[in-house]
Amino acid sequence: MPDAQAVMTALQTVRDPELHRDIVSLDMVRDLSIEGGHVKFELVLTTPACPLRETIEKDVRAALQTVPGIDDLDISWGAEVRGGATREGGPKPVPGVKNVIAVASNKGGVGKSTISTNLAVALAALGAKVGLLDADITGPNIPTMLGIEQGALSEGQGGLHTIEAYGVQAVSIGFVLPKGTPVVWRGPMIGSGVRQLLHDVEWGELDYLIVDLPPGTSDASMSMCQEAEIAGVVIVSTPQVVAVEDAMKAVGMFDRLGVPIFGVVENMASEIFGRGGAKAAAESLGVEFLGEIGLSAPIRQGADAGNPIVAADPTSEEAQAFVRLAEQVAARCSVLRYSGDMAVA
Ligand SMILES: Nc1ncnc2c1ncn2[C@@H]1O[C@H](COP(=O)(O)OP(=O)(O)OP(=O)(O)O)[C@@H](O)[C@H]1O
Ligand SMILES: [Mg+2]
Repeated sequence: MPDAQAVMTALQTVRDPELHRDIVSLDMVRDLSIEGGHVKFELVLTTPACPLRETIEKDVRAALQTVPGIDDLDISWGAEVRGGATREGGPKPVPGVKNVIAVASNKGGVGKSTISTNLAVALAALGAKVGLLDADITGPNIPTMLGIEQGALSEGQGGLHTIEAYGVQAVSIGFVLPKGTPVVWRGPMIGSGVRQLLHDVEWGELDYLIVDLPPGTSDASMSMCQEAEIAGVVIVSTPQVVAVEDAMKAVGMFDRLGVPIFGVVENMASEIFGRGGAKAAAESLGVEFLGEIGLSAPIRQGADAGNPIVAADPTSEEAQAFVRLAEQVAARCSVLRYSGDMAVA
């Protein structure tokens, strides 16, 4: 019969490829049981959207080859997403929400809302608890993109609350405004609108709250950074030089605000708009490149029809690109949460 200590020692040689620490000290190995030659344990990942599950499994199996007496290995998988510690004097935490992730760009129309929606639906499909906050107070698009009727909550007395669509808990000012009602709020009101969406809504327990920001260094973006501890920002850019220039300004802005940048995603890559511009710029600025989403009619149709491509056609190339993006974002979030740890250790 294999020895439990020998099993753990062998597992200690396996490192999480992103976090660069061994899986035992990361507390990823749980409930080890050994009966005869059968070894069983649970591997608890730092996110259900872990892109490296297969690599970890391969490394675990290889490491345990060195332990004598194992006939058969039974690995079950779990995931626990970590949140951050609240900074003293920093923004109030949003109750129940582990990680606030903002999607931003300086330029309008580059696909922030489309990416926020599909990112949220992809993370939920991978097994995470996900919310989506529409911070575009004057031009909310999330109701349409999730197929939720504008003004769905306008008659109710309960006020603004989340509506679930595609496994995502969504909130938008569009839920309480009948279709076609313009929002003509100015700066301070937008700030308080953002604060209410964050803090007055019962979000429940969420691993990730995705925030769809309006374009530019607007009141809503600034308020969001003051009102919530943002785990990281995903910057969206299309490939054209002018769009990339704007995206780089957004990188500079969040940097100055001290908000971590998870990286840049290139959207609408195509013959028409080009491809690779955002990647090159990300590299030259030393920020991560998170992936490329092509220009594609089904993505646009899904957004217009309220049926995001990730849900409408999960096996399509487009949906797979969003899933890879979701995994990259979740991985960056884990790395950030654990690197904070190492700084104290
Ligand atoms: N990869 C893509 N392929 C095809 N169409 C896309 C793609 N990404 C976004 N779109 C379409 O482009 C339009 C603009 O996208 P979206 O509303 O997501 O941009 P945005 O950055 O949120 O805009 P705003 O700055 O106004 O908030 C939408 O009609 C959307 O369906
Ligand atoms: Mg938008």
